[in-house]
Amino acid sequence: MNRHFLNLSDAGGDAIAAMLNDAIDRKAARAGKPRGAADADAPLAGHVLAMIFEKNSTRTRVSFDMAMRQLGGSALILDGGTSQLGRGETIADTARVLSRMCDAIMIRTDDHAKIEEMAHHATVPVVNGLTDLSHPCQIMADLLTVVEHGVALPGSQWAWLGDGNNVLHSIIEAAGLMKFDVRMGCPEGYDPDPSFAVEAGKLGATVTLTRDPVAAARGADVVVTDTWISMGQDHAEAKLAAMMPYQVTPDLMAQAKPGAKFLHCLPAHRGEEVVDAVIDGPQSVIWDEAENRIHAQKSVLLWALGKL
Ligand code: CP
Ligand code: NVA
Repeated sequence: MNRHFLNLSDAGGDAIAAMLNDAIDRKAARAGKPRGAADADAPLAGHVLAMIFEKNSTRTRVSFDMAMRQLGGSALILDGGTSQLGRGETIADTARVLSRMCDAIMIRTDDHAKIEEMAHHATVPVVNGLTDLSHPCQIMADLLTVVEHGVALPGSQWAWLGDGNNVLHSIIEAAGLMKFDVRMGCPEGYDPDPSFAVEAGKLGATVTLTRDPVAAARGADVVVTDTWISMGQDHAEAKLAAMMPYQVTPDLMAQAKPGAKFLHCLPAHRGEEVVDAVIDGPQSVIWDEAENRIHAQKSVLLWALGKL
């Protein structure tokens, strides 16, 4: 049975907890090593990850490559412009070929249906490196980061400010699986897909939507935002104007708990969704969050390949 990681629910809460523990242990065990050196046990020696990018990336691209090196394996990149995918070879055939040549596939694409098709035809694990629907690997790094910074996930309060996008969908999914609550401050017309909150609610999470950014941030342990204009979306002035009241400022951070952590998946649009005083301020843990993409994804890869 192939273990795909298209959304967090493919793994479930117990496996996510195991991955987070593994990531913490591996990160500690390799302290002081050069970043490209393999972990002592090199659990993916000889394994190759094929990475397909149909959208831009810095963190996902580098962190998966470094994750594979640290696990003793390696990664290669196909991009839409230079592979046959860009000339119309089907996802299904690409999945079949890569499954004969590589040990796992990571894909960043637009329509989530494409990654589902890839997973349907692949005989090796497929990992979601972001789709228009979700960004589960990002949220694995976010969970790792807040746990490292002393937030106990069960019962914690997360505040989301801004666009109801792919990153928020995965946070809501995580809330259900890891038993925390999310208050979402989103302007009208930019709500997340309501099905995520319905599923999280069934698992016991309280996920609420408000138009009031102060109400969203009040008492939060974790404050999160993301770009107002995701990849593939038009840079609409109307959207920017609607989002402006949800900008994360020091005043808004002051509504959260005094020790609240600020997260942003990056890249940031400073002066839009967040101001410098917050993203560069003492509550921001964004550089740990970015580095943790490596550590969290190592554990995702180990889980997907049946080694965890
Ligand atoms: N956060 C994130 O996924 O960054 P990249 O777009 O640079 O990969
Ligand atoms: N919501 C953003 C995340 C980028 C990592 C996007 O999809 O562009």
